[in-house]
This record gives sequence, C-alpha cells and structure tokens, in this order.
Amino acid sequence: MLILGIESSCDETAAAVLADGERLLADVVHTQVATHAKYGGGVPELASRMHLEAIQPVVEEALRLAGITLADLDGIAVTQGPGLIGSLLVGLSFAKAVSYAAHIPYVGVDHMNGHLLSVFLDRHHPAFPYIAVVASGGHSSIFRVDSAKSYRLLGRTRDDAAGEAFDKVGKLLGLEYPGGPVIGRLAATGNGDAISFPRAWLEQDSLDFSFSGLKTAVVNFVHQHAVNGQGVLPVADICASFQEAVVDVLVEKGIRAAKREKIGEIVLAGGVAANLRLREEMVRRGKEQGLNVYMPQPRYCTDNGAMIALAGYHRFLDGEGGYDYEMDVYSRVAI
Ligand code: KG4
Ligand code: ZN
Repeated sequence: MLILGIESSCDETAAAVLADGERLLADVVHTQVATHAKYGGGVPELASRMHLEAIQPVVEEALRLAGITLADLDGIAVTQGPGLIGSLLVGLSFAKAVSYAAHIPYVGVDHMNGHLLSVFLDRHHPAFPYIAVVASGGHSSIFRVDSAKSYRLLGRTRDDAAGEAFDKVGKLLGLEYPGGPVIGRLAATGNGDAISFPRAWLEQDSLDFSFSGLKTAVVNFVHQHAVNGQGVLPVADICASFQEAVVDVLVEKGIRAAKREKIGEIVLAGGVAANLRLREEMVRRGKEQGLNVYMPQPRYCTDNGAMIALAGYHRFLDGEGGYDYEMDVYSRVAI
C-alpha cells in the first residue's frame, strides 16, 4: 500500500511517500524557520502563506523522489489538527483537491498520533504498549500507547510546552529562532550545575508539566545579573542549567508514568526529543530503572510527512478514509 503523507500544522511543509507502512520512498521537509527567524518567532499569517507556496512543489518533489505518479497512490494521509488553523487548512484543502481530482481516498490524521508512531520509522522500535513523552513546540505530553490508533493522555503541560520554553529562553538570550537547537549547542559548552533553576514537580502523583516558572526564573536571573552589574552574561551556563531543568522533569515524569502503568518501554518523540542531552539522560536513567528506551532519529522527531503517512496507513488498514470532503481542521487537542 502506497501512502502519501502531508503535514502543514506548524512551521514545516512536508510530504512523504511510505510503502506498506515501513519503507520510506521519499521524505521532503520544507522548513520556514529562516523566515520566521527574522521576526523572532512563528508568525501564523506568514506560515499559511508560505505553506500555500510550498505545498505543491513539496508534494511533487516527494512523488518524483519516490519514482511514482499520483495514479500509483492508494491513499493520502493529511494532518487534520492540532495546529495553526490557517496552516492546517492549506494541507487539508490540498489533500482534498488531489483526492477529488485523482480519485484517491484520503484520511485525516492527528498530529500527535504521528509523533507517537514516529519511532516506527526506525528499525529499533518498541512493542505495544509503551509510554511516550512527546515534547515539541506546541505540546509536552505523556501518553500510554496501546496500539497504532489507541492511546491515552496521562499528563500534559499546564502552561508552556517544553519547546516553547526553549524558544522563549532563546529569544530572551538574543539567540536565533528557534531557540531549541541553538540552546542545545551552547549548553554543551556550559555547566549545567552552574545555576539552580526550579523544577516544577506539581502534585505528588501528577504527570503534568509546567515550564512557565522555569522561564520566569531565567528572566529573573538575567535581570538580576544586569542589575548587579556582574559583567558578561554566562550564556552557555544559563543554557546548560535551563536545559538540565527541562530534561530532569521530562525524564523523571516519563519514568514515573512507566512505573505507574507497569510498562517497560518508553519512547521520546517531538521536536525537543532531538535534544542530545535529553536523549542521553533518558537512556541513562531509563536503563537504571530497567526500562527499554527508544527514540526516533532527530529528523523524525521534528515535524515530517513520514509520521503522518504512517499514522494514515494504519487508518486505511482499518478501512478508514474515503471521499468525504466535509472534514474540517481542529486547532486544539481533543480531550
Ligand atoms: O515537533 P516540532 O518540530 O513542531 C511542533 O509540533 O511544535 O517541534 C519544534 C520544537 C521547537 O520548539 C524547537 O525549539 C524544539 O522543537 N527543538 C529542540 C531541539 N530541536 C528542536 N529543542 C531542544 N533541543 C533541540 N535540539
Ligand atoms: Zn510536531
């Protein structure tokens, strides 16, 4: 079964062609970050315009790389939500148009479902059930994943997402957007114990996250440093100490979830899972606790069309998908 996956929920216009749910024939990602960087953050209106320009060339490139034409496709999978409404609409409308014109069934996919399955794009993947910690620019959530299509939310952020915290701290420190990858690089040259930033553990049994207090602590530190006239800001140490605080909470809560659900497999996913320190700590502390730890290679952690094609594949297998053009996008996670 040949599935075209289309993703346009945030900053990336992406398309991929997946054969039989396991062989990736093409995987094209067009990122808008250079444009958003000029404005210091994502600009929704610009995002949808850029998706509109990029979507057709990106899909055509994916088909070309896969060496196929539309007629070869068995289905189209497209991100339906959550994400930016205007951006999602570009992908969904494009998918509907192609579906109608070329008579190929299409199916809507939840973006989180894609992230949850992204680990299966690598050879080293877990068996069901597993615990997944999904940390991205829009979400920081813990799921129990029982099958390709059934998963349950165990915890989520009450304020900022982990990636959002990285991006806001990056902006505060005058770093390039998005802050996550830059902070990750700078942190490698700093001391993670230099500054003691807070960890929000919340209630004893809570698997929720809160990162806004940490962000405020970094703001206060930078402010105090200026007020006290302490000279050059220790940017690398701030990055390392901030990163340590985020990693600590993500890893610890993931492990708690695994213990509580009595599950031995844990998966990291979402853009922040590209963070090397997070990957290293998850493996180290997971091993200590006797857990098997899995994570997609970094390119499948950030948004891509392959994970959407994969999630769509499972829906087509179950007989979902078709020609109902009434489908709409949704901006928020269904609870
Ligand atoms: O999953 P993703 O590509 O898009 C969303 O669905 O949000 O995640 C993007 C987020 C951004 O906030 C970015 O700063 C963060 O992932 N990110 C990282 C790293 N690479 C990307 N955060 C920390 N370290 C990284 N290496
Ligand atoms: Zn994402």
